Amino acid sequence: MHHAHTALHFVQLHQTDHAAVRAELAAGLQAPVAHVAPKFFYDALGSRLFDAITELAEYYPTRTEAAIFKAHGVAMAQQVPPGAVLIDLGAGSCAKAARLFPVLRPAAYVAVDISVDYLREAMGQLQQRHPGLPMLGLGLDFSAELALPPAATDWLAGQGAAAAPRCVFYPGSSIGNFNRAEALALLSQARAVCAAGGPGGGILIGVDRVKPKAVLEPAYDDPLGVTAAFNRNLLLHTNALLGTDFAPARWRHVAFFNETDSRIEMHLQADSAQTVRWPGGERAFADGEQMHTENSYKWQPADFDALLREAGFGASTHWTDEKGWFSVFWAPV
Ligand code: AVJ
Repeated sequence: MHHAHTALHFVQLHQTDHAAVRAELAAGLQAPVAHVAPKFFYDALGSRLFDAITELAEYYPTRTEAAIFKAHGVAMAQQVPPGAVLIDLGAGSCAKAARLFPVLRPAAYVAVDISVDYLREAMGQLQQRHPGLPMLGLGLDFSAELALPPAATDWLAGQGAAAAPRCVFYPGSSIGNFNRAEALALLSQARAVCAAGGPGGGILIGVDRVKPKAVLEPAYDDPLGVTAAFNRNLLLHTNALLGTDFAPARWRHVAFFNETDSRIEMHLQADSAQTVRWPGGERAFADGEQMHTENSYKWQPADFDALLREAGFGASTHWTDEKGWFSVFWAPV
């Protein structure tokens, strides 16, 4: 049946497997160097703390990228064909993509996020502002594997967009959480998604660049301590998910630029010897022992272009800010 009054549909693929989440967290805590994956930053408070980070004077990526989209949106639209299916990875509030609708003029919008509840709310409002644009919400953890499920391709066919070019949109330098091999796998999958559409598709992706330590480090260790709170909140989220008894006040925020690996590393450092316990396990930490919580890779444009080529994309174009701190790449399929 055709519902003329709404073009908004949802497909929920990601069902949280609580036992698997607990097993993943426990394995990380019991590894020789304890670690918790950065995806666990984003509970309700963590998402709000991240939003606060983006307001900090020291945290340049979000506003620098927004300025690049504003200054070069028209030039980007000369690369991205009109009438494309815009596939937004980690869409969240959908705000970044929505700002590009007027210049990119997509035929359909597919928002992908692990948290479908948040998507549902954001897209309900977005659909009211863009009643003529067909929208699909896709609840899926694309960091595990990126592919459009049959329900999504069926939906696109139903919108008459089966043969439309596909543009994957991945802003925010979220690709920075992945090492080169992981980023290559994700980009190769993104290319396959684009290649399954009509000619003219490609990827539009935000990438944070290598720059002096004096700029990088305060962005991840701000004087107000917002990033420290964001990092420590991981312990509270872990307590909620696994039942650990972490005391956040006993952990110090550590962030630095590792030049050898071209990445910001974030860690939490125990302020004294302590044992953390949870149902079915425990981990002893020595005084000063660190737990690894995040990598945020910084790229040189030529290296990122080479990565895109290796993933199968054609020669890329990129736009940057006057300081060369951040780049938005377009690479055709
Ligand atoms: C959301 C992964 C792009 O790496 O800059 C910000 C996360 N961590 N401050 C980044 C983050 C600490 C952010 N990404």
